[in-house]
Amino acid sequence: MARSLQSWLGGCLLVSALGMVPPPENVRMNSVNFKNILQWESPAFPKGNLTFTAQYQSYRKFQDVCTSTVLMECDFSSLSKYGDHTLRVRAEFADEHSDWINITFCPVDDTIIGPPGMQVEGLANSLHLRFLAPKIEKEPETWTMRNIYNSWAYHVQYWKNGSDEKYTITCQYDFEVLRNLESWTTYCVQVQGFLPDRNKTGQWSELVCEQTTNDDIQRLSQLRPRKDALVQVCSWPFVFTEALLEARR
Ligand SMILES: *[C@@H]1O[C@H](CO)[C@@H](O)[C@H](O)[C@H]1NC(C)=O
Ligand SMILES: *[C@@H]1O[C@H](CO)[C@@H](O)[C@H](O)[C@H]1NC(C)=O
Ligand SMILES: *[C@@H]1O[C@H](CO)[C@@H](O)[C@H](O)[C@H]1NC(C)=O
Ligand SMILES: *[C@@H]1O[C@H](CO)[C@@H](O)[C@H](O)[C@H]1NC(C)=O
Repeated sequence: MARSLQSWLGGCLLVSALGMVPPPENVRMNSVNFKNILQWESPAFPKGNLTFTAQYQSYRKFQDVCTSTVLMECDFSSLSKYGDHTLRVRAEFADEHSDWINITFCPVDDTIIGPPGMQVEGLANSLHLRFLAPKIEKEPETWTMRNIYNSWAYHVQYWKNGSDEKYTITCQYDFEVLRNLESWTTYCVQVQGFLPDRNKTGQWSELVCEQTTNDDIQRLSQLRPRKDALVQVCSWPFVFTEALLEARR
């Protein structure tokens, strides 16, 4: 026992005497909406706590992004979105360091499309949906994932609460109306971003469940030709307000 511990310690000393700091493990890029976080795990190292340095290649030279950090991640969100980047990270202890672990990362291809936002409003026997494309890390508020990709759409999945039968539609715009649903019925809706030209889907949003009401408003607006609808609504404010109030109950 004592002997094996001794030889183990001896091995360790020998290893570190040769400058063999073990490299970081499980190095991977976690990138969502261009928030690019390089992550890794610290290898077992009995002599003490390791620090890490992470870099990216810019032209011929490597630039530090995180230097001698005790953390096990480094934020590369300021990288250009286009092109392949070479990133690397190594472990350090005192004056020694491990080999670099290299990875290649192309943000525009590799980043995960995060969940869109969604607002759902039940109006008569339809649900009105409004989507908010995911925002981009390190860009002005108004910049969304939609602005980056030539093709952008939403996949919407909806179903009657409690039913296994799901419906999927693809929407080009930030608005959509699900019509002719059953009255007084709760539907659950979920949305994800979709890039048709890459056949790439994003993460699903949280579920939003909303109840339809009855179809009174629809019947009202179907009584007259479409162009009269507004006039009709305005000349029947009471009825319309009642119907809306009813719809919200
Ligand atoms: C290593 O890190 C741990 C936790 O961060 C800390 O408690 C410990 O004191 C550190 N050891 C050395 C030798 O710095
Ligand atoms: C990382 O790249 C460098 C230089 O390109 C190379 O020397 C090194 O062996 C690579 N590391 C691994 C783990 O492949
Ligand atoms: C969905 O249905 C389940 C029972 O099937 C019920 O417990 C739950 O509250 C419903 N959710 C909503 C949002 O109505
Ligand atoms: C698109 O991707 C899905 C899976 O993500 C696959 O089932 C489908 O066949 C692909 N469609 C095309 C046209 O490649």
